[in-house]
Amino acid sequence: MQREQWNSRTGFILAAVGSAIGLGNIWRFPYMAYENGGGAFFIPYLFAMLTAGIPFMIMEFSLGHKHRGAAPRVFAKLGESLGFKLEWLGWFQVFIAAVIAIYYVAIIGWAISYFVFSITQSWGTDTNSFFFNEYLQLGDNSPTKLGSLQFHIAIPMAIAWGITSLAVFSGVKGGIERASKIMMPLLFIMVLLLIGRIVLLPGALDGLNYLFRPDFSMILDVKVWSAAYGQIFFTLSVGFAIMLAYSSYLPEKSDINNNAFMTVLINCGFSILGGIMIFAVLGYMAAEQAKPITDVVTSGVGLAFVTIPAAINLLPLPYILGPLFFLALVVAGISSHISIIEAVVAAVIDKLAISRKKAALMVCGTGFTVSMAFSSNGGLLLLDLVDYFINNIALLTSCLIELIILTWLFKIADIRDYANQCSEFSVGKWFNLCLRFIGPIMLAIILIKNLINTLR
Ligand code: PFF
Ligand code: NA
Repeated sequence: MQREQWNSRTGFILAAVGSAIGLGNIWRFPYMAYENGGGAFFIPYLFAMLTAGIPFMIMEFSLGHKHRGAAPRVFAKLGESLGFKLEWLGWFQVFIAAVIAIYYVAIIGWAISYFVFSITQSWGTDTNSFFFNEYLQLGDNSPTKLGSLQFHIAIPMAIAWGITSLAVFSGVKGGIERASKIMMPLLFIMVLLLIGRIVLLPGALDGLNYLFRPDFSMILDVKVWSAAYGQIFFTLSVGFAIMLAYSSYLPEKSDINNNAFMTVLINCGFSILGGIMIFAVLGYMAAEQAKPITDVVTSGVGLAFVTIPAAINLLPLPYILGPLFFLALVVAGISSHISIIEAVVAAVIDKLAISRKKAALMVCGTGFTVSMAFSSNGGLLLLDLVDYFINNIALLTSCLIELIILTWLFKIADIRDYANQCSEFSVGKWFNLCLRFIGPIMLAIILIKNLINTLR
C-alpha cells in the first residue's frame, strides 16, 4: 500500500504549524517571557530556538521523511541498523501523546463551553467562583466520582473529539491538511483582529511595556535559560512522536531544512502575537481596575477561564471580542489535538497494517471513552497531576533520550547529510554541535531541576 502524502508544501507546513501552535503559545509563553526578564527573555529564547528548536525539528523531519513511518517504526528501523531494539522509544512517545490527548481535549471542551458562555454572558462578575464552583462544580462538596458524567462538560468534550476524529479519519490530505488550511489562517486573522482592537484601549500599552521591558539583570540566571529551553521543546511539539508522523507523509522531493525553519519561525512568531494579545488585555484590565498589573498576571487555566472572562466583562463589544478569543483558543487547541491523535493513529496503522479508518475509529473510540470517564470534576484533580508530570518530566525525558541515542549512538553527521541532500540550503556543522552537546546538557539541567522540585 502506498503511504499517504501531503498534497502541497503549504499544506504540510500549515499542519506542522497547527500542531506547534497550541494553548502553550497563548497561555504559557507570555507568562514565561514576563517572568523571566521580559524583553531580555528573547535572547535566551532565540538562542534556544536556534540551538535546540531548529536542529531538533530538522532531525525529526529527516527521520520521518527517510524512514516513512510513525515513531515506533522510525526507531525500530534505526535500531536495526545498529543491531539493537529501539522500537520501545517510539511507543514510549506514542504513550505520552495518548496521555496528553486525554487531558488536552478536556481543556478544548472547556474552551468550547466558554465560547458559548461568552455569547450568552453567563459567567457573571465573579468569574473565579463561576469557573470552579458552577462550571467544574468543585465547590465544597467532595468531587464527583470518576465515570459519572457531567453533561455540560462531557458534551463540549465530545464535540472536540468529533472534530478531531473527523479530520484524522478523513486522511492526511482530505482531513488533516484540509482542516489545517482552514484553521491556521482563521487563527491568525482572529488573533490579529483581537490585537488590533485591544491595543487601542487605555492601559494596553502599559501591559506591553511590562511584557517587553527588558530586565537584563536576569540574563545570567540559569532559571531563565532553562525556562527558555523548556518552552522551546514544549512549543514545537518535538520529542513525542508528532513531527515524526507528520514528516513521514512528506513527498520524496521535499525541502527539509526550509520546512523546519518555516515551522519553527511561524510558531515562535505566533507566540509573540500571543504575548501581545494577552498583555494588552491584562494592561487594560489593570488600568480599568486601578490595580498594578502584577496583580492580574497569571497563566494557564486560571488565565484563560478566570482572568480573561473578567477582562472580557470590561471590554467594549464583549460579545464580539469574547467569542473571538475563545474560538481562537479552540482552534489552536484542536489543531494540536489532531496532531497528537495522528501520532497515535499512524503508529497503529504501521503496526497492525490496518486501514486508516479502522485505526482512527479504534484510537478515537478508546480516547473518547477514557476522556468521558475522566470528564467529571474528579478527573480534574488527576489532570493537574498528569499535566505536571508530563510537562515537567516525561516530555523532557523523552527528548533527552531521543537526543542522546540519536546523536551519540548514531552518526549525527549522517542525519545532517540527509537533511542537506533534501534541501536547497545546507545546515553547517553547528547542527551536530547543538544536538550532541547543547541540547542534552540543557535538557539534563532542566530535568534535574524539575526532579528536585518534585521531590521537595
Ligand atoms: N505545541 C503545543 C503548544 O505549544 O501548545 C503543545 C502541544 C502539547 C502540542 C501537546 C501537542 C501536544 F500534544
Ligand atoms: Na506551540
